[in-house]
Amino acid sequence: MFRFGVDYYPEHWPEERWTTDARLMQEAGFNTVRLAEFAWSKLEPQEGRFDFDWLDRAVDILSRRQIQVILGTPTASAPPWLLQRHAEIFRMRQDGQRVTYGNRRGTCPNSPLYRHYAGRIVAQMAAHFHKAPALIGWQIDNEFGERCYCPQCQQAFHAWLRSRYQTLDELNHKWGTVFWSQVYTDWDEIPLPLATGGSPNPSLALDYDRFMSDSYVDFQRCQVETIRSQCPGSQITHNFMGFSFDQVNYFDLARDLDLVSLNYYPRSQWNMQAEVDPSEFALALDTMRGLKHQNFWMMEQQAGPGGWEMISVQPRPGELRLWAYQAIAHGADGILFFRWRSCRYGAEQFWHGLLDHDGTAGRRYAEASQVGQELRALSGAIVSTVIRPKVAFLLSYDSRFAFQIQPNNPQFSYPAHFQQLYQAFYRQHAQVEIVSPDDDLNSYRLVVAPSLHLMDRETAKKLEEFVRQGGTLVVTQRSGVKDETNLVVDQRLPGYLRELMGAEVAEYDSLAPGMSNEIRFVLPGLELQASLNCGTLCDVLAPQAARTVAVYCRDYYAGKPAITENRYGEGRAIYVGTIGDAWFYQILTRWLLDSTGIEPLVFSADPDVEISERWQGERRILFILNFASGPRCVDLRRDCVRLIDGQLIPAGKIQIPPHEVLVLKEK
Ligand code: GAL
Repeated sequence: MFRFGVDYYPEHWPEERWTTDARLMQEAGFNTVRLAEFAWSKLEPQEGRFDFDWLDRAVDILSRRQIQVILGTPTASAPPWLLQRHAEIFRMRQDGQRVTYGNRRGTCPNSPLYRHYAGRIVAQMAAHFHKAPALIGWQIDNEFGERCYCPQCQQAFHAWLRSRYQTLDELNHKWGTVFWSQVYTDWDEIPLPLATGGSPNPSLALDYDRFMSDSYVDFQRCQVETIRSQCPGSQITHNFMGFSFDQVNYFDLARDLDLVSLNYYPRSQWNMQAEVDPSEFALALDTMRGLKHQNFWMMEQQAGPGGWEMISVQPRPGELRLWAYQAIAHGADGILFFRWRSCRYGAEQFWHGLLDHDGTAGRRYAEASQVGQELRALSGAIVSTVIRPKVAFLLSYDSRFAFQIQPNNPQFSYPAHFQQLYQAFYRQHAQVEIVSPDDDLNSYRLVVAPSLHLMDRETAKKLEEFVRQGGTLVVTQRSGVKDETNLVVDQRLPGYLRELMGAEVAEYDSLAPGMSNEIRFVLPGLELQASLNCGTLCDVLAPQAARTVAVYCRDYYAGKPAITENRYGEGRAIYVGTIGDAWFYQILTRWLLDSTGIEPLVFSADPDVEISERWQGERRILFILNFASGPRCVDLRRDCVRLIDGQLIPAGKIQIPPHEVLVLKEK
């Protein structure tokens, strides 16, 4: 069954209203609702006094409308009776200041006291609800993140370091603490990378970020274990934040869960733009699917204007529906809108739901209902169909964390670079999966590793093997620079990747704002009259076995290689030494896809159209989404059937109205 529904906070509304809400939800085609997230002070109004009656009644009203529930554990917002009594539960920021009461997510994941109270409310909820027939799953907490720098974390960090390095000698050696006289003689001397300490040892700082990520994984695991033991049939998930959230290693966080789900808000006060870039959502979705290589849910899809102090642009007519289908096109088997009704009070007064503050069901509700109606027809054909991308993007949290500590260039951002490369593939309608360096790469033909800064021998071997067997690997500037403890390698760059790349980095240049260079493709068949802009970071390459694909045009390295390609075993390894613009990446990706034999899904498509696929056995289901406010054309390769009504759509050119979606099955 396709899971379709909404995030609902019955505790925000008079009980007399609940039956009306449930009726409207059923009429919209909803079958699933998430409840109880953030309701701790209603569930345990006083220490040790639990009240689940109101939630029982809400679940009952919903289940009478055939709506099943996911329960959120409420641990992202602890009640005042707990927080006001125990200041040490609050998180400490990197500047050494404790967070104060007033918001949510203010707690430390390593606080034993907090873990005790969190564990107890979760155990009580699991014991109470485990037999509820309407219960299908649990969401642990809400959007884990936010590093803590408190003394409890420092203690836990020391234990984490002991188990990683065993001896102080080893740690001192691996971190290079001889620099600036930082050799530790006792574990307790090891500091936190507080902002007040200035630039920390990069190895210490990276280990701290890894440790904090592990802390959240561990905090989550305690809840997962409690729930799993009480509710063995429940699906357990957490609501992730797509690609942009970058303080927890999401691959690790997903490991203990049954299901990945995500929150996505293309329009919010923090993203006040007239137009939404659909490639950003696509990357978030492909990241979520890649975490467990399985389909996922949207736990919170934007339902209305979003904002706390400000009000975002209102989702344009058709956008809620487009976003829902885009999520499905990338592997969503469930979609819940956030939130049901806009709340009259609290920090999120302006975070609008499907219903307005007064409870009336208007345009946005009607659009969600339309999706609900369509899903009744489509669900059977879609649920559990799979995506089989041939292109993988390697997301390294180690490299991502390392660039947070040392961005290398003030204008460089690992996630922005990743997004820019991804966007080029997206615009060519390539189906992409985001993978971790630990993943098996065998099912992909092309692997792109943007700025794979940290590298160990094992990963290098895996990439070598992938290429030897016939794969195409692309790495970009500043790859292979560091070892796994964040020391610069003692070899010519790109370090462990040098032989595979058949080229060395002769020099690297980090450009100041306003400085740039140009690049010219010189590979036969790829030559252009014009040169293309590049800059920020420029690795100047010295090919050995590799051949030159493009050269720099300016400065003292004019004529020197900027991109190389090396045949290795059955495959090839490509080093892209600099950062270009959209045109540059368009040419590069077209060449990469063509030369790897990855056939476009359609003959051609106008800009602003997304084409994605899911597979039902050997049959392809095509999703064609027009994000433009005008009609757009697509040239289909094969005859198709429109799934919603069984109409035949012959191969050739078709026109898609503005903000429209077509779901087609190839014949
Ligand atoms: C999400 C969060 C929700 C709600 C929403 C709007 O990120 O999970 O609880 O706060 O943002 O701000």
